[in-house]
Amino acid sequence: MQAIAVSRDSEGPVCIEKPRPEPEPGEALVRTLRVGIDGTDHEILAGSYGEYPDGEDHLILGHEAVGVVEDPGTTDFERGEVVAPIVRRPPDGGSVYFDRGEPDMAPEESYYERGIIGSHGYFSEFFTSQAQYLVSVPPSLARVGFLIEPLSVVNKAIELAMTSRSSFNWEPTSALVLGNGSLGLLMLAHLTSTDTYERCYCLGRRDRPDPTIDIIERLGATYIDSRKTPVDTIPSAYESMDFVCEATGHAPHAFKTIDALAPNGVGALLGVPESSTFEIDGGALHNELVLHNKALIGSVNSNADHFETATDDLRTFPEWFIDALITDVYPLSNFIDAFDDDDTTIKTAVQLSAYEER
Ligand code: NAP
Ligand code: BGC
Ligand code: ZN
Repeated sequence: MQAIAVSRDSEGPVCIEKPRPEPEPGEALVRTLRVGIDGTDHEILAGSYGEYPDGEDHLILGHEAVGVVEDPGTTDFERGEVVAPIVRRPPDGGSVYFDRGEPDMAPEESYYERGIIGSHGYFSEFFTSQAQYLVSVPPSLARVGFLIEPLSVVNKAIELAMTSRSSFNWEPTSALVLGNGSLGLLMLAHLTSTDTYERCYCLGRRDRPDPTIDIIERLGATYIDSRKTPVDTIPSAYESMDFVCEATGHAPHAFKTIDALAPNGVGALLGVPESSTFEIDGGALHNELVLHNKALIGSVNSNADHFETATDDLRTFPEWFIDALITDVYPLSNFIDAFDDDDTTIKTAVQLSAYEER
């Protein structure tokens, strides 16, 4: 079968030939339908993130996937069922985090991430997975089910952030997303789809006309250009924010989030930056966090419960949003085009096989 990988001895993604995997006891064989690409894939290709599996010279990419069960093996799945795989897998010897169904809370170095950290991903015509890491997806979402993984990351971050504000009477009305990439826009779609926030904003660094600004405005949110309005000046230019989500990977934004927050507000950081050195007034930020009961949380990955809530989200998002977000779906023969990353590209995917209704 064909697979898309990053390899130690070539630049950029490559198509390689691999044997079709055989399901072990407890595993199902899945025929891959579509795989989405995000900022993390680009970071892996740039060599700034990710790990090859032990002793291997390549890593099969792909952590945002949807597929159909081809062979249920000894699992309870049925042949033809649509599934989305979660990303993390336990270390050899197991892990209490995985036993609890909370692999997303496992500390670094104590998990594998398929397609990212030390384990082959889903960017192949078939893959196998233990049943507990596969989430059932309604057949109506077979085309777009690769969005469940990034949406689950959104749902987990919201859950962590909201829990931190749950001990008092918090009545948020304003929300800001930093970043107009696919993750930022999925977060914005989630925020605007609830009644919680009366006013939503999204920050980018693009000139009009731009497809992401069109989406932001069609979602009813206000576009903020970071070149004209740096994050810490947003309260004076617009208003202070009850909730901020950082999805840029630009490290100064993590700290400027504190200034953008309203008293009692919470900021969720999702970006995975490289090392970056800059000056901040640590005392002022510390003071601001404490005297205004502000919270800043970091959030990574997601678990099967977040996949379930993400599936509900995906069902409720307007169709125009999904159509505008997914700028292209390429056949396997044109996989290379799916890795283009210009201002006309938002979310791309590769179709490895077609979904046929049973
Ligand atoms: P992406 O497509 O690269 O999006 C990042 C967006 O942020 C881009 O649209 C970029 O604008 C914008 N941006 C970057 N620096 C900016 C600045 N200084 N001012 C304004 N806008 C800025 O990546 P993604 O897939 O959406 O992911 C976003 C981040 O989250 C990445 O760091 C990724 O590694 C991380 N991530 C984390 C998790 C998690 O579990 N925590 C999950 C997925 C992704 P331009 O396009 O105009 O350059
Ligand atoms: C993935 C997460 C993963 C994170 C860090 C993201 O792109 O969506 O599942 O935990 O990268 O590796
Ligand atoms: Zn991702």
